[in-house]
Amino acid sequence: MRIRTVVFPVAGLGTRFLPATKVLAKEMLPLLDRPLIQYAVDEALDAGCDTLVFVTNRYKHAIADYFDKAYELEAKLEASGKHELLASIQDILPKGVRTVFVTQPEALGLGHAVLCARPVVGDQPFAVMLADDMIWNRGHGALRQMIEVAEHEHASVIAVEDVPADQTQRYGIVSSEVVSERLSRVRGLIEKPRPEDAPSTLAVVGRYLLDASIFDHLETTRVGAGGEIQLTDGIAALLKVKPVFAYRFQGRRFDCGNRLGMVQATMHLAIEDAELHGPIVALMREHLSRE
Ligand code: G1P
Repeated sequence: MRIRTVVFPVAGLGTRFLPATKVLAKEMLPLLDRPLIQYAVDEALDAGCDTLVFVTNRYKHAIADYFDKAYELEAKLEASGKHELLASIQDILPKGVRTVFVTQPEALGLGHAVLCARPVVGDQPFAVMLADDMIWNRGHGALRQMIEVAEHEHASVIAVEDVPADQTQRYGIVSSEVVSERLSRVRGLIEKPRPEDAPSTLAVVGRYLLDASIFDHLETTRVGAGGEIQLTDGIAALLKVKPVFAYRFQGRRFDCGNRLGMVQATMHLAIEDAELHGPIVALMREHLSRE
């Protein structure tokens, strides 16, 4: 089972980042000098994927533009000898990687967004990545780790991590049976339960490797939590007929769907950056000494 296709649902309105997202797609907000979406795309490339499907809406042209060739800019950088900058825009996608843009005409939920990609994905297993969840790891990316598990188990795999008990309402929550240190067999899945209704504190993070039969389940998935067609509900139907595993990935997740996570991710990347490390640590020391 070779997973080559990744679906990026990017049709959200990004209201948590208004007013910036009035004109700018949330996925184009930068962490240092790279847009959020590029971190997810790089993780997909590291995992060997070569078909990137963006499920977008009519306001998100910037994402298509970003992955397109910028002839004029390239010519200017070339003429002025700025080779490093030139390489930085030419290397965004390696040769042989293709992008496909699919429109989600109405914002009916994550499950519906994934279903919109069906004509491109076909009947092969595929990945879904939510760019909001930025996962940083020194070793291989989370998606690559998951693909190894999926190939071994011949099954669908979803990324999970433990969250504080009072945060279950922000996530899909899993009930499962432990297989090994990082792996569990999923027995149930519920979207955004209140802490008192949550079967555990094991939360779904925005990385999924799914059997293509998920589309049949999504076709019949009814409106769920928040009045939306939920991917979680589709997977809950899938696991009744095919195995689904939950994998505790190695790496640090930042929830870039809100301001705090965005700032934490930016600071983390800055501290890891050779050039920025010194000045950022100095600034933090300065603030801490005043506390
Ligand atoms: C989505 C999923 C949820 C998952 C979360 C991970 O929720 O519906 O199951 O736990 O992503 O980030 P959203 O963050 O879009 O509300």
